[in-house]
Order: sequence, then C-alpha cells, then structure tokens
Amino acid sequence: MPAIHRRPRWAVAESMATPESVFASRRAVLAGLGLGAIAGAGFLPETARAETEDAAARTASLYPAQRNDAYRIERPLTPEEVSSTYNNFYEFGSHKQIARAAQALVTHPWDIEIDGLVEEPTTIAFDDLAKRMPLEERLYRHRCVEAWSMTVPWTGFPLSALVALARPLSSARYIRFETFNDPGIAGGQKQVWYPWPYVEGVTMDEAANDLAFMVTGAYGKPLARQFGAPLRLALPWKYGFKSIKSIRRISFTEERPVSFWEEIAASEYGFWANVNPDVPHPRWSQAEERVLHTGERVPTQLFNGYAEEVAGLYSGLEGEPLYR
Ligand code: MTE
Repeated sequence: MPAIHRRPRWAVAESMATPESVFASRRAVLAGLGLGAIAGAGFLPETARAETEDAAARTASLYPAQRNDAYRIERPLTPEEVSSTYNNFYEFGSHKQIARAAQALVTHPWDIEIDGLVEEPTTIAFDDLAKRMPLEERLYRHRCVEAWSMTVPWTGFPLSALVALARPLSSARYIRFETFNDPGIAGGQKQVWYPWPYVEGVTMDEAANDLAFMVTGAYGKPLARQFGAPLRLALPWKYGFKSIKSIRRISFTEERPVSFWEEIAASEYGFWANVNPDVPHPRWSQAEERVLHTGERVPTQLFNGYAEEVAGLYSGLEGEPLYR
C-alpha cells in the first residue's frame, strides 16, 4: 500500500511561496555567483543566506574586473562547469566532488589577520580588502601535482599589493598563509590525522613576483566557495597545492613555514613545489599532464610555462629540492 505523504505547511516549494519575480531575481543572483547549477540541483537550502550574507553577494559589484592582457595563455579556458565541480579542498572531503559540501562555508563576516614581522599587526575585513585592492582578471594555467591541469580566468590583485599594505619589517623572509579552522562546517577537519588548519608559504622574493596573485573571483564573478572563497592564492608556476584556499591569516616570518602537505609527507611534497617535467613525484611521472575537460595529454612545461618570469627567483638555490 503506497504511503500517504502529508506535506506539512512549511514544506511548500520555494517557487510557490515566493512571488515569481523575487524567485527569478534570486536565481539570477545565484547564477551570477556561479551557484546556478548547484542551486538548481537543490544543493543550496539556505538561498537567503547566500544572497544577503556571503562575501560574494557583498562584493558582486566589483565584477567583472578588467582583463589584464599581459597574462594570456594559448590554451582554451576550462569550462566553469568542469573546473567548479572537480576540486581539491580537503576541508570538505578527500575527493574531487566537494562543491556541494563546500556551500556550508560561511564567508561573511570574514576577517583576515595580518601579523608576525609587520610594523603593526592588523585585521582587515575581506570586503574592505577587496574594495581597496586593484582588481584585475588574468588567465592562468593551474597544474596539480596529481598531473591534471586546467586554465582559469581568475580575478584578484597582486600579492605584492597586499605586502605593501601589510608593511613587513626587513627581517621578514617568508609569508605564511593559514586557512580557516571550523570542523563544525568543514567535515574534513574532523579527521584528526590531518594537520589542520591548511598552511602554505612563500619567500618574500616569490611574493614580490608579478605572477603571485591573490584571488577573489573566477569567471568574472566573486569566487565560488569550492574555489576557496573569499580569498585564495594562485601561484601558477607551482603545483596547485601551494595555492591555498580560504585564507584567514597572513603572517610574516623569519622561519620557513611548514606547509600542510609537507607536514604529512615531506619526501613527496616540499616547500618549493615548482613544476618540472623532469623531476617525477616519487610515485608517478610529471612528464605529462591531463587537461581537464578535453582529456588530452600534453607535455608538462618547466615552471608550468612561466620559466621566463620566475626562473631567476631560484638562482643560487640549486641545492634546494626546488621541484617537489
Ligand atoms: N587549500 C585548502 N585550504 N585546502 C585544500 O585542500 N588543496 C590544494 C589547493 N588549495 C587545498 C587548498 C590543492 S591540492 C589544489 S590542486 C588546489 O587547491 C585545487 O584548486 P581548485 O580546486 O580550485 O582546482
């Protein structure tokens, strides 16, 4: 005998409870934030929160930013549906389909602490930072240590602009970046065998390089949560794990930071992690990469194709394990 489902009064479909025009504009907002597909699939129960309280809605007027044509690539862009549904974000699971779980990330309020060897430690709200910085769009290659790659139109500002804002002391040699820590919303952070929170680092010289980019958006919109909203790093000449997502704290240090993956397996994932086809990962080759979406296998390029811009950073450091 079929069960009789009596819908409680509060379980009215949103499209019935909301006037059509409001519903349509809500969908437009979500689509504009790159959440259209997710909302459509029923991924986002808290649509109201997404509209009014997250970092994306609060900074939407800053997009699209002007594209900077100095950063072009010869490859086609990876479609957003592909790059936003195949992600590494271990806070939300150790597999690629974390986009849905990542919608739990609360991106407002989002304060970023700047501390360590600086003239004056400070805390800045993400919205304020995004509004103060010179946003631009750049097309970057993105190469994961797992040997897949994609091409993404990031929006953001040079890391050097943030360094200028932070006013580090001359004793600062490294920048250490730290992600949020909230096991209540990020289930992966309940897995105690990982050294949470996710940490990454660069040298001051690397931070000063033009390619080092703080990302606030992608595909002409504020950053979707699965990409590391509201603020992540993009270091396109390095393996993707250096590009830390959802940054909460930026510290200037004299000591070299130990990063998340280095802490887990230093023999496989080092501090430098520069892309090099001739230096295999201990368990697989880095000679080729699989281009997401097309599935094509193409030769990996030294420094992921950015050797001209960054090779000089490493002269005199040949004794270091620069390529893992
Ligand atoms: N940042 C945090 N906080 N947590 C992560 O698990 N994964 C890294 C990096 N940044 C990761 C992170 C890895 S391994 C890669 S390849 C890239 O994010 C993936 O970025 P994407 O999902 O935007 O392609």
